[in-house]
Order: sequence, then structure tokens, then C-alpha cells
Amino acid sequence: MSLKLGVNIDHVATLRQARRAPYPDPLDAGAIALCAGADFIVVHLRKDQRHINLKDVAALCKMFPKQIHLECSASDFGLAAALKYKPYSVCIVPELPGEVTTTGGLKFTPALQKRLHGMIEKLHKKHIRVSLFVDPVAADLRIAAKLGADVVELCTAAYSEAKTQKQSQKLVQELALSALLAQELGLEVHAGHGLDYHNVLAVADVGGIKCMNIGFAIITRSLFTGLPAAVEEMKNLL
Ligand code: PXP
Repeated sequence: MSLKLGVNIDHVATLRQARRAPYPDPLDAGAIALCAGADFIVVHLRKDQRHINLKDVAALCKMFPKQIHLECSASDFGLAAALKYKPYSVCIVPELPGEVTTTGGLKFTPALQKRLHGMIEKLHKKHIRVSLFVDPVAADLRIAAKLGADVVELCTAAYSEAKTQKQSQKLVQELALSALLAQELGLEVHAGHGLDYHNVLAVADVGGIKCMNIGFAIITRSLFTGLPAAVEEMKNLL
């Protein structure tokens, strides 16, 4: 069975915001990506709404109630949006001011754990699946399970930035061991960040991963090939 593909369409909105224009519309991108074989549409609602905004989330959740995977931080803003628009699932990610993109998994301080526990309970009451974006580290997986997450998304940023083959193989091994442990802990396993058409295969071969969430590589390739071809090509690799 092929892996599921979540296509992150944030950068369609980035392009729109470059001109503060009404297009390109992420809703169109979502429809095209799903028709081309994507299983989920992923959007990161940042607090500053620099690309995807609340209006996009409202429209996407209404149009695709079973396919929107909303990323947000452990903030009142993210929680309120999720509870209001009820995406299929929510992935809680760290969000640092001024960052270009998400820089790693959640850092589980006691204060964050307390906050996440409450947030997960509220999301579950609305029947929203909850994923936590984590580094492939055993202690963090155990915390995610204890907090009641349904899914962990393993951060592949370090793997995607590996400089040597040896380093990259070691990091794939870490992902494989983490995927195994996460499953033992009863968690569904996803992976994402920095994956592209060249580095995705080694992660796709790691057993136990159900879904890969990929954005930048697909959206940038689509500038030259068109979005349907870019999505189809990635889906065929999985
Ligand atoms: N997964 C998570 C949790 C992310 O924060 C991001 C980036 O928004 C992605 C996946 C997609 O990363 P990329 O755009 O590098 O494919």
C-alpha cells in the first residue's frame, strides 16, 4: 500500500501575499492537489498569518472537511481557529518569532506539556485528530503518547540537511527506530520537513510511516511543471 501524501500549500499563499492579490487562491491549489492524488492538504496557520490566513482556513475546512491537516502552534490563536473551523486533524508545531520555517520538533518543557494536555483534550472533544511535531527522539515520543496524541509527525529537517551519506544513513536509522517505538506506543506515524524528490525515497522506505507531509519541493516544482504533475510525481515516489 502506498504512503499517504499531505501536500502543504502554504507557499501558494506566500505568492499571493507577495502582491496582496486575491490570487493564487489556496482553495484552487487544494482542489488541484487532491485531484492529482494528494490524500491531505496541509496548511500552517501562523500567528502573523503571513501566508495562510483565517479566511483560507475557514474556506478550506468547509470545502474539504475530511482532508485538511492544520498546523498551528500551542497558542490560544491556533486552538481557537481549530475549534472554530474543525479541520480533519491538527498538528501542533513550535513557532518562533522571525523564523523562516519551522526549525524542529516541540521542546517539551513542563509548561508546554501542561498546555498541550489541555489543548489535546479540547480538540478531542470536537473529534479532531491531534498530531505533535517531534524530533525523532525516544523521550519525546513517550511524552507525546502520555499526552494523548493520536499521531506524531517525525521531523525530517536534520535528515534533509545532512551533509554526508554516512550522516544521512544514521539519521534515517534514527527515523526508523523512532517510527518503530512510536507504533509500539500506539501512535500513528507521519514524517515531514525538507523532503524533496531526491531525499524522500529513503524515508519512504522506513517501515511504519503512514503519511508524508511535503510542501516547498512540490510547490516550487509546480512553477515549472504545473501542480498536477508535481503532485503526481511525488505521489508515485511514495
Ligand atoms: N511538516 C511540518 C510540521 C511543517 O511545519 C512543514 C513546513 O511548514 C512541513 C511538514 C513541510 O515542510 P516542507 O515545506 O519543507 O516540505
